[in-house]
Amino acid sequence: MTSNLRHNPILSIRNVSKTYENGFKALNNINLQIKNGEIVAILGSNGAGKTTLISIICGIVSMSLGEVLVAGESIHDDFRSVRSKIGIVPQELTVHEFESVWSTVKFTRGLYGKKPNPSYLESLLKSLSLWEKKDQRIMTLSGGMKRRVLIAKALSHEPSILFLDEPTAGVDVELRKDMWRIVSDLRAKGVTIILTTHYIEEAEEIADRIAIMRKGEMILIEDKKTLMQKLGKKELTLELMKSLKSIPASLQKHKLELSSDGLQLRYQFDSQKSDKGILNLLDDLKNAKINYKDINTKQSSLEEIFVELIKESK
Ligand SMILES: Nc1ncnc2c1ncn2[C@@H]1O[C@H](COP(=O)(O)OP(=O)(O)OP(=O)(O)O)[C@@H](O)[C@H]1O
Ligand SMILES: [Mg+2]
Repeated sequence: MTSNLRHNPILSIRNVSKTYENGFKALNNINLQIKNGEIVAILGSNGAGKTTLISIICGIVSMSLGEVLVAGESIHDDFRSVRSKIGIVPQELTVHEFESVWSTVKFTRGLYGKKPNPSYLESLLKSLSLWEKKDQRIMTLSGGMKRRVLIAKALSHEPSILFLDEPTAGVDVELRKDMWRIVSDLRAKGVTIILTTHYIEEAEEIADRIAIMRKGEMILIEDKKTLMQKLGKKELTLELMKSLKSIPASLQKHKLELSSDGLQLRYQFDSQKSDKGILNLLDDLKNAKINYKDINTKQSSLEEIFVELIKESK
């Protein structure tokens, strides 16, 4: 790790806009600061601008306006040095079909000016379950294995910032779990990770912060836990001892929902406020002689929050 890593933030995206050659405005004034070691998930529907943003940061696409700093350095000023700190797993499969796994990974490391390090590459390929395939030509691998090769290439030069553009689109559950494990190993080493995903449970599982893009704008950037606390609704479910035909009049004020079999009462509450409603509800249930055998609470998922946010901003 270099001393640059101590810069804070490690990645600074300032007022970035992009208009493609055909006049389409794909990004509109994006601002995002990312701290060293953070894992940020960028969510957004198809065409929101996620890949455009990542491609700009990695120098694959030019920006129309704005500035990107990596560890304090502008990507324009010292492109080679900046680029060597970055690894990217692109959304599209781009691999040299005729090369072997080993030579492509070794070549990529050299491309970034890193000294050969066969033992690092060996452990990398092993962690991606590619070691047995190392001498095979890439064209002889399955789609999921090719994606693993892309991940190995992105990590071949030990980058301190890793971009994963939909790393688990179309891969099996096993590779997805492997990815999550790799991400958590990298986090332990202090690597900063920015990923895009359509699998919201993936963001929920691994991200520290959530950014949501819509039509070229960043509509929200928030700490995951805060977001889920702020916008998540909690639901309390009471499993009743005896089935109820309807909600008794004495309980009407609590805005309860009764399940169709009459065996469950559901109550929604705000997870932020300390809610006296629950205590009152339990008192009223006791007075109405309604007994329950179990109480469960459920917090809404990031998925539900995301769907709400995208709906609201339309
Ligand atoms: N080279 C290009 N020329 C013109 N428009 C483009 C170009 N590349 C992308 N776009 C447009 O920019 C918008 C954003 O595309 P981008 O690939 O960044 O979206 P995304 O959020 O990554 O979507 P997805 O979830 O489908 O990967 C889209 O409307 C797309 O059609
Ligand atoms: Mg994309």
